[in-house]
Amino acid sequence: MSVWFITGISRGLGRALAEAALRRGHIVVGTTRSGESDLAAADGALRTVALDVGVPEHAAAAVAAAHEFAGRIDVVVNNAGYGLLGAIEETSPAEAEHVFDVNFFGALGVVRAALPVLRAQRSGHIVNISSIAALAPGAGSGLYAAAKAALGGMSEALEQEVAPLGIKVTAVEPGQFRTDFLSGHSRRNTATAIDDYAATSGSVTALEGKDGKQFGDPARAAEVILDAVADPEPPMHLVLGADALDRTRANADRLLGDLRRWEAASAATAFPA
Ligand SMILES: NC(=O)c1ccc[n+]([C@@H]2O[C@H](COP(=O)([O-])OP(=O)(O)OC[C@H]3O[C@@H](n4cnc5c(N)ncnc54)[C@H](OP(=O)(O)O)[C@@H]3O)[C@@H](O)[C@H]2O)c1
Repeated sequence: MSVWFITGISRGLGRALAEAALRRGHIVVGTTRSGESDLAAADGALRTVALDVGVPEHAAAAVAAAHEFAGRIDVVVNNAGYGLLGAIEETSPAEAEHVFDVNFFGALGVVRAALPVLRAQRSGHIVNISSIAALAPGAGSGLYAAAKAALGGMSEALEQEVAPLGIKVTAVEPGQFRTDFLSGHSRRNTATAIDDYAATSGSVTALEGKDGKQFGDPARAAEVILDAVADPEPPMHLVLGADALDRTRANADRLLGDLRRWEAASAATAFPA
């Protein structure tokens, strides 16, 4: 039995993760913005605490409440987040800042609040829910991709810093999953639309039409995440969904192609011996 701290259990993947963890007999401390949850759980198995991850300084109180309730924290899942659709030029500074506040600085706040607990325990696992957009960004969600890529980059460095302290880190990169992610309840669109981007960003903002039709099942994704955490050698990156696998491979091939094509020039940039 482990203690899971999961942000954003009101809906979608976070809720599926909380349900799966509870089914496996774990204790869940889940956050919602209201501090309330209608999840069913055995007595003492679930505690809900209030957290708007867009206010990172509030993370300390939520993590402290979890620690006080359960006496330890084994798994920290930074799940709360939302997508912003629109071209880079269409994105206002305030829209860009907010998507980073929630998707990157929100997670960073939770990580910073949880690390003293995990370091004292000399154990724990931080799971950052990133996105396929971080590994294979596309037109129309550049600032969301940038925030998730920041989360992935931070996760890779963090993994090297905390591995000697007994703490593991995994970045999860889901493709399209059937949650509220693309619904008007969650997704945001930039207030500005520029005609010149109709064929690129504009066609991606049409993703809204896929709401409710994504083939990824969040309950199955949650089970895979729990399996990965239970694995003695958990992955640094966990790509979820056949679409995400395809996009990751295509982007990796493109990167390797660029390396090969420019290898000689790239290697010839050192001072002469
Ligand atoms: N579904 C996908 O296709 C997909 C693909 C790649 C990555 N992801 C990532 O997966 C994670 C979960 O998303 P989802 O698909 O489950 O979407 P969702 O159904 O829209 O759920 C989003 C969750 O995040 C919470 N949240 C959003 N902003 C918040 C804030 N400022 N403070 C606290 N909680 C906040 C929501 O809480 P409220 O109920 O209070 O709004 C909700 O619990 C996100 O990080 C998302 O970027 C999803």
